[in-house]
Amino acid sequence: MNSFDFLSTKMYEFRVPPTLHFGPGCLGKVSGEAAKFGKRALLVTDLSMQKAGLVASAVNYLQAGGIEVAVYDGVNSEPTDKLIEEGLRIFRENGCEMVISLGGGSPIDAGKAIAAVATNSGRIHDFMGANKIPLPPAPIIAIPTTAGTGSEVTRVTIITDTANDVKMLIMSSLIMPQVAIVDPLLTLSMPPWVTASTGVDALTHAIEAYISKRAQPFTDVLALEAIRLMGKYLRRAWANPEDIEAKTYAMMASTLAGISFSNSSVALVHGMSRPIGACFHVPHGLSNAVLLPVVMEYNKMACPEKFALIAEAMGENVAGLPTAVAAQKAVDTVRQFCADLRIPHITKLKVTPEELIRLAPKMAEDAIISGSPANNPRQAGKEEIIELYKQLLLGA
Ligand SMILES: NC(=O)c1ccc[n+]([C@@H]2O[C@H](COP(=O)([O-])OP(=O)(O)OC[C@H]3O[C@@H](n4cnc5c(N)ncnc54)[C@H](O)[C@@H]3O)[C@@H](O)[C@H]2O)c1
Ligand SMILES: [Fe+2]
Repeated sequence: MNSFDFLSTKMYEFRVPPTLHFGPGCLGKVSGEAAKFGKRALLVTDLSMQKAGLVASAVNYLQAGGIEVAVYDGVNSEPTDKLIEEGLRIFRENGCEMVISLGGGSPIDAGKAIAAVATNSGRIHDFMGANKIPLPPAPIIAIPTTAGTGSEVTRVTIITDTANDVKMLIMSSLIMPQVAIVDPLLTLSMPPWVTASTGVDALTHAIEAYISKRAQPFTDVLALEAIRLMGKYLRRAWANPEDIEAKTYAMMASTLAGISFSNSSVALVHGMSRPIGACFHVPHGLSNAVLLPVVMEYNKMACPEKFALIAEAMGENVAGLPTAVAAQKAVDTVRQFCADLRIPHITKLKVTPEELIRLAPKMAEDAIISGSPANNPRQAGKEEIIELYKQLLLGA
């Protein structure tokens, strides 16, 4: 079963960036694309990108194309309201006309937020929720260096409200980048734990987009292909960081998954993951990865046919199996996948059992407020979410 079954009864909207470059070496397209938006760019990035030489490569291409570049390399954590204010200051001081983000989801999300506040009055907090950005942001060119978030092709940015320890979900078609430049060569320098955690984030996007109540025929196709590619290539990309074929397919999977969830939605895993990130500063990919098998176990009874197809996409042979058995295979294969990638237990991520239990009610409330659990195929209220947080502590 997939969302095609409802084709005759629903309408769909599907948005992607106007321009997407993909493939090894396509970073070189950046100057030609930037020239379409002006002559002065803010490059939003982090220190790892400086160290890996990726900032120098991007700046060289841009300067050769006559673009002046101001570099803001301060996004050295998942982005906060304070980092956005600092980026905005540099954008304005340098009279920038566009934002170019280079990095993982953190610099890309920061760049989207800076571009939004640059053309609108107010603070980033004012835009929390869906469609709250009044005026079009400055043009955004997004260049990912992780095969994970898919932020280069999504209408989403996630910024931490530091006063309240909440990861604000900001969703608007206006922050869809004008240009995505997806060059797998930029992921070669990722440390293995980043390859694993960001790759499982992308797998989570694909699985949640596929089982979401907001899934649609176009997103199903992309989600299943993303699951298939991650299932086949992520372990290879993790085991051998120089395996360019595996890295290319992992990058394709993350971009497909990003397009898919941006037009469908994420669901309970992401709803529960953001509060873990905000309260315990666990990187996004890892908080998703510890949740994914537990939440899949919870969800499987709501859409067993879809779970059977997830198992098949992950490479399992489900021919002739009863649907419930095939659905269980999806859960088991994803649990083993995370184990193969050495995803640690939650208690190895600076999360103590006492604090998790103490904060679970607040985290459950924040998860529900984010809206993501409402898209989950199985209903989950505050009590169920608290129980799922507690289940993370099993098997320590
Ligand atoms: N906007 C969206 O659609 C969306 C979707 C999912 C997640 N997110 C957000 O994205 C953020 C996480 O992004 P992420 O998982 O890509 O991690 P990240 O950007 O925080 O990067 C993780 C670490 O890897 C390093 N790194 C990244 N690329 C590297 C490379 N090529 N070589 C060496 N080091 C590299 C970074 O410097 C950092 O230390 C979170 O804030 C999350 O909420 C956004
Ligand atoms: Fe994610």
